[in-house]
Amino acid sequence: MFTHNKNATRSDYPAELQHIMNLERANESREWLSSWRMLSVEPTPLVSMKHLAQKLGVGAVFLKDESKRSPLGSFKALGASIALVRLILRKFPDAGFTAQSLFKGEHAQTLKDFTVVSATAGNHGSSLAAAARDIGCRCVIVLSSQVSADRENAIASNGAEIVRVAGDYDDSVEHAESLSKTEGWLVVSDTSYEGYEEIPRDVMQGYATIPSEVIDQLDAKNADTPPFTHVFLQGGVGGMAAGITAYLWERYGKKRPTLIVVEPNQADCLYQSALAGHAASATGDIDSLMAGLACGEASPLAWRFLQPACDYFITVSDTKAVEAMKILAEGQYGDVPIVSGGSGAAGLAALVELTENAAQGKEAGINETSKILLINTEGATAPTDYLKQVGKTAEEVLAAAAKVQA
Ligand SMILES: Cc1ncc(COP(=O)(O)O)c(C=O)c1O
Repeated sequence: MFTHNKNATRSDYPAELQHIMNLERANESREWLSSWRMLSVEPTPLVSMKHLAQKLGVGAVFLKDESKRSPLGSFKALGASIALVRLILRKFPDAGFTAQSLFKGEHAQTLKDFTVVSATAGNHGSSLAAAARDIGCRCVIVLSSQVSADRENAIASNGAEIVRVAGDYDDSVEHAESLSKTEGWLVVSDTSYEGYEEIPRDVMQGYATIPSEVIDQLDAKNADTPPFTHVFLQGGVGGMAAGITAYLWERYGKKRPTLIVVEPNQADCLYQSALAGHAASATGDIDSLMAGLACGEASPLAWRFLQPACDYFITVSDTKAVEAMKILAEGQYGDVPIVSGGSGAAGLAALVELTENAAQGKEAGINETSKILLINTEGATAPTDYLKQVGKTAEEVLAAAAKVQA
């Protein structure tokens, strides 16, 4: 499914949105995150996929490889961690803590009973667990029965206590909220709901590190037009898309790139929101191998940024996502092989779809002059699933990549 968003504007970044997310706090988050040992010291690679671009008939494809962001395997390491730091700084205003001293675990003794809880489809939980472990506080993660054992292991291995509930992602969100009330724990969620916006805002703001690095990497720090024409943004609850949209909108105003949100067919809450003109629910059964995108409800706070700025919404099938994973893993057209999980490859799946469907591609303005930015939001964060889907392990793909690069 594909739709133009009739509410998308080309205006300057509105003051009321800038009050919520802005370049200043995005840059501060990037700086603070640089002191967390779990994040790569260097910006994640920006790979120019020349052969893929040629094959698809576009001017350029740049792939920002977030699988290399951290041992946690996804961009989500940028969100939960900074939101947890900002939460602790707000809760202990007079303790003399800094982001740096928190990330170094210098206040673990004071914080050992401070407990955070969150629902997750996988990657947010691993990131929150790892940040809590390093800071020295306690972390409880609620998983629905749809989350695979692989993903549970990844979260537990980062020190979180796991609670399982029946149902889907949205049931786990409700359960985390109820635990916070009965136990007095604090929810650190990547999705917003009524009366709960501060933490998801901080999570989203952390994701702006991605476009900020890309602009540096394309040597476009001083240009007033973006160095890419289209950006494909995978959507779960919409947080990553909103964090990146806010950054690019404030940075480029009316000259912002065309923004395209991508979801699984069966977890299309943002697509449905675009049709409805307000944050809405998905129509499918939510269960997708694009596990990070398997969300049934749009984040209302994220939607405030997406509705006025994202030009197109597209959904893709699990089959197409696996094809895109394989294109990347095999370096199918001659580019360097890349490890990309189901959610990570969804942006490429959507680009392929738009280049195969001439009418839709034309409507989105995709042609031989387009410079496309894709974000590989995760690596093989569920290794057993990855092997089943791609037919190779992540290590095999990395070994092939090293050979090409040698
Ligand atoms: C790998 C990956 N990509 C994309 C997303 C989508 O992010 P959001 O839920 O903020 O829209 C997620 C969410 O968990 C994810 O894990």
